[in-house]
Amino acid sequence: MSTTYLRIEQSLGLHGQTDLVGAKNAVLVIIASLILTEGKSVLTNVPCSDDVLQMIDLLTDLGAQISFCKEEHRLEVDTRTLIKCKVKPDIMKKMRASILVMGPLLVRFGKTDVAAPGGCVIGTRPINFHLENFRKMGVQLEQQGDFISAQADTLKSGKLILEYPSVGATENLMMAATLTPGTTKIINAALEPEVLALVDVLQKMGAKIKIAPPASIEIEGVTSLQPIEHSIIPDRLETGALLLAAAITGGSIYLPQARADMLDIFLFKLQEMGHLIHVGPQDVGIKLTACSRPKAVSIKTAPYPGFPTDLQAPMMAAQCLAEGTSIVEETVFENRLLHIGELQKMGAQIKVDHNKATITGVEELYGTQVIATDIRASCALVLAGMAAKGTTLMTGIHHFRRGYEALEKKLILLGASIQQQETCDVLAPETILLDQKEKSAF
Ligand code: UD1
Repeated sequence: MSTTYLRIEQSLGLHGQTDLVGAKNAVLVIIASLILTEGKSVLTNVPCSDDVLQMIDLLTDLGAQISFCKEEHRLEVDTRTLIKCKVKPDIMKKMRASILVMGPLLVRFGKTDVAAPGGCVIGTRPINFHLENFRKMGVQLEQQGDFISAQADTLKSGKLILEYPSVGATENLMMAATLTPGTTKIINAALEPEVLALVDVLQKMGAKIKIAPPASIEIEGVTSLQPIEHSIIPDRLETGALLLAAAITGGSIYLPQARADMLDIFLFKLQEMGHLIHVGPQDVGIKLTACSRPKAVSIKTAPYPGFPTDLQAPMMAAQCLAEGTSIVEETVFENRLLHIGELQKMGAQIKVDHNKATITGVEELYGTQVIATDIRASCALVLAGMAAKGTTLMTGIHHFRRGYEALEKKLILLGASIQQQETCDVLAPETILLDQKEKSAF
C-alpha cells in the first residue's frame, strides 16, 4: 500500500520574511454566516486549506453558487440559490466546524438536519452547549444516534449561559441570535480573535452586536442581513508556527502582516525563552531573532487571552530543546497530548500525568518515523523535524493539509528541507537510523 509522508531534513537557521494566509478558524465560520444573507458576498485572503474546501463543498451541496480563485485567495458565495437545510452526514463527519451551519440554517429555514461533526481526535468534543442553548431559544431537537433534527418556527431571545466559553457554541448562538427578535445575551462567551472577526462580519451585514464586559455578547435581532465584501484576518496560528520555526532552528524571521495583539501571552513566552521579539507600530509586524540556547518556560492553555491550545503542541516541540524543565498544562482539550509519544520517539524527555506534561530539555532531537494525529500535532512534528538531527518521516499529513495552506512551501523558502514523498513501504526505523549515522559520518 502506498503511503504519503513528509520527509524533513534537519534545517538549521531558517531566515527571511513571509506573508501570512487568512485565519482558517475565522474563515470557516464566516463562510457559514453567509447563509444568513441572500445575495453575493466576496471574501478575500481566504486560505486554501482542506477544511476550507470542505466548507465550500458543504455550502455548494446546500445549493449556494460558489467560485474560489485559489491563486487570488478570493471566494465568491451567492446564497440566493441556497435551498437545502439538510447537511450530508459524510460532509459533517469531515470536520468539527460543520456544526457552525446549524444556527444559520435554523434561522433561514426554521429547521435543519445535521449529524454529529467530526474533526481532530483531541478530546470528546461534545456539542451539548450548542444544543442546550438552542433548546432555550425554543428549538425542538430530535436526536437519533449521531443524527439531529432541529425545528423552530420562531426563535426566542433571552439570556444564554455557557458553562465554558466555547468558541463554536458562542459563534453558533450569536449567528442565530442576529435574526431572532429581541435581545439575546450570551454570558461567558468566548472572545477569541476569530469570534471577534465574526462579530465584525455580522456587523458589516447589518447585525446589532455589542461586547459587554467581562465576557458577554449582546445581540439585538434585526429582520435581515446584507451580503458583504470582507478580507479575512491573518492566521495567528500560522504566525505562531512560523515564529516557532525560526526559534527552534536558531534563525530569524519577519512577518510583516502578523498581529501581535492576538498573540500576547505566546510572544511573552517566546521572550521568556530568550528569543528577541520586535513588534511594529500598532502591533502589526513581528520579527523574531532566536537566541542560541533557549530557556525552559511553562505554559497553561486557556481560553483567549490565555495561551492558545492550538499553539500548545507546536510550542512543546521548542520546549523539548530548551534548557531546564518546562511544564505544560492542557486545560482546554483533555486528549490534546498525542504528539508527546511521537516527540519521545525523537528523543524528547517528557513525563505525562493526566493533562500535564513535564519536559526536561535535551541538547538534541533525532529524526525518525512519526505519525501526525491532529492538525496542531502535525505542525509540532514538522517543527521538531527541522531541528532534529537526520531525517524525520511524518505520515498522517492530511492533518497538516487540513489546517495549513502550504506551510511547508513557506518553510522551504526560508531554508527548510521538506519534501512530500510517496512510497510503497515507508522506511523501517532501522533504515532511518542508518541514514542518520551515514549523514553524521560526513
Ligand atoms: C475552536 C477551534 C479550535 C480551537 C478551539 C479552542 C475552530 C474551527 N476550531 O474549536 O481550533 O482549538 O476552538 O480555542 O474554530 N465543549 C463542550 N461542549 C460543547 C462545546 C465545547 O464540552 O458543546 C468543550 C470542548 O470539548 C473543549 C472546550 O469546550 O473541551 C472548548 O471547545 P470549543 O471552544 O467549543 O472548541 P471548538 O469551537 O470546537
